[in-house]
Amino acid sequence: MGGTGSYRVLATLLAMVGVALTVGAYRFFFGGFPSAPELLDLGLVLVFFTGVFSFVVFGLLESQQKKLHVAYDELQRQRDILQGLWDATGVVATLPDLGGVLQQIVDLSRTLFGAEYAALAVLSDEDPSKIRQFITSGLSDEERQRIGQLPTGKGLLGKVIREKRPLRIQHILEHPDSAGFPPHHPAMDSFLGLPLLYRGTVVGHLYMTNKPGGFTPQDEMLAQLFGRQAAVVISNARLYREREMLATAQERERIGRELHDGVLQTLYGLTLSLDSLLDTEPDLSPTAQKELSRITEVLSLTMTDIRMYIQTLAQSDVDLRVALVDMLQRGGGMQDIVLEFRDNQYLELDPEVVHDIVMSVQEAVSNARRHGEASRIVVGWEALEDWYRVWIQDNGRGFDPAQVSTEHHFGLRNMRRRMEHWQARMTVESRPGSGTTVTFWFPRDDMGNTVEVKEDIQHG
Ligand SMILES: Nc1ncnc2c1ncn2[C@@H]1O[C@H](COP(=O)(O)OP(=O)(O)OP(=O)(O)O)[C@@H](O)[C@H]1O
Ligand SMILES: [Mg+2]
Repeated sequence: MGGTGSYRVLATLLAMVGVALTVGAYRFFFGGFPSAPELLDLGLVLVFFTGVFSFVVFGLLESQQKKLHVAYDELQRQRDILQGLWDATGVVATLPDLGGVLQQIVDLSRTLFGAEYAALAVLSDEDPSKIRQFITSGLSDEERQRIGQLPTGKGLLGKVIREKRPLRIQHILEHPDSAGFPPHHPAMDSFLGLPLLYRGTVVGHLYMTNKPGGFTPQDEMLAQLFGRQAAVVISNARLYREREMLATAQERERIGRELHDGVLQTLYGLTLSLDSLLDTEPDLSPTAQKELSRITEVLSLTMTDIRMYIQTLAQSDVDLRVALVDMLQRGGGMQDIVLEFRDNQYLELDPEVVHDIVMSVQEAVSNARRHGEASRIVVGWEALEDWYRVWIQDNGRGFDPAQVSTEHHFGLRNMRRRMEHWQARMTVESRPGSGTTVTFWFPRDDMGNTVEVKEDIQHG
């Protein structure tokens, strides 16, 4: 700016010197006509007005140039934002989960708009005035944990949700709709929030805060542009998931058919042959007869198992509670078991997740009975904010988990492997003499999305 300012002065001076030289040259060559003093006055006046005129004109030029600069910078920024969007669309195609897409979008918006914090809210399917998932950028994990609960959507965030249009504020706390901040919340001042709309449907909300100097109307316009693209990206990721789920469902159905028409019929044929063998060969030794009936029994149990498995395959989602009770009843009864289901909302889950939960619970219950000799076993389920928690607690004799070798014991190790497959964690709390609690922690993101996508299909 100093450079262009001195340019203006220099240009003005040059113009004045130019006129002065012209007047001087005129005087030198044609001096005396008209009279010299008059010419001097005229010269001074000319130089003075040239100065004023040039100063104004160059000033105008300069401000024009400054505006061009600003416009150019703005264009550059818009180009960066559009480039960022384009990159995001590319990256999204390679991201397997919706959670990754959402995180990418928040991170991107934060850096592109120069905000200190950014967040993306996904609304609850049951109650669209509530926030179900809140993805942040700019906060460390510890900071997020210290803040604790998700925003409830009462204050400014709620205003954006209700009014379905952008909201730009210079000072959050001075705004009449501000609900203030919970303890441990970082200080936030400037604010820009907007709904992400895809074909008239809100797919999420984007919020940015603390841009140095505040957000401009330009930012608001660009954010809307960004928001439209982001909404497309989010919808695409959802569609992609839906298609994947459909493909999986079709594959499941095919496997079910094969099992039913192939394996099951073969087994059925075998039981028939065994039956007729028992009928037509009365000379079989009692041991052989006994063994044959045992085989028939095992076969029929296996067939029941396969039938149930086929049923599981045919269902798109499985009720965890039903599957657990079914397993517990078949494996040793439920007389020593207390079920503690603290949540009924998200019981419908991917059959493969349910399968791994059921198998792990089965092993934990069998350990509690065999090793712990427990008289009371609690099998519990709870949906927390970020996790689904499944726990198996017994009042048995307990043990020291650090002392268990994985060389000869497979139960705990298998459970851990099953959990790792779903990015879930497993903890074992036990001390000799004080019972055992095995807990599985499933990250809620992925499993929650399964439910969400399913509901979307129903609405669409
Ligand atoms: N609920 C429990 N109460 C008391 N001890 C337990 C309990 N669960 C596990 N243990 C101890 O931990 C060990 C390891 O358990 P794990 O299930 O891995 O193997 P296992 O039951 O011995 O053998 P496997 O499961 O392979 O048949 C057990 O042998 C037992 O000593
Ligand atoms: Mg075991």
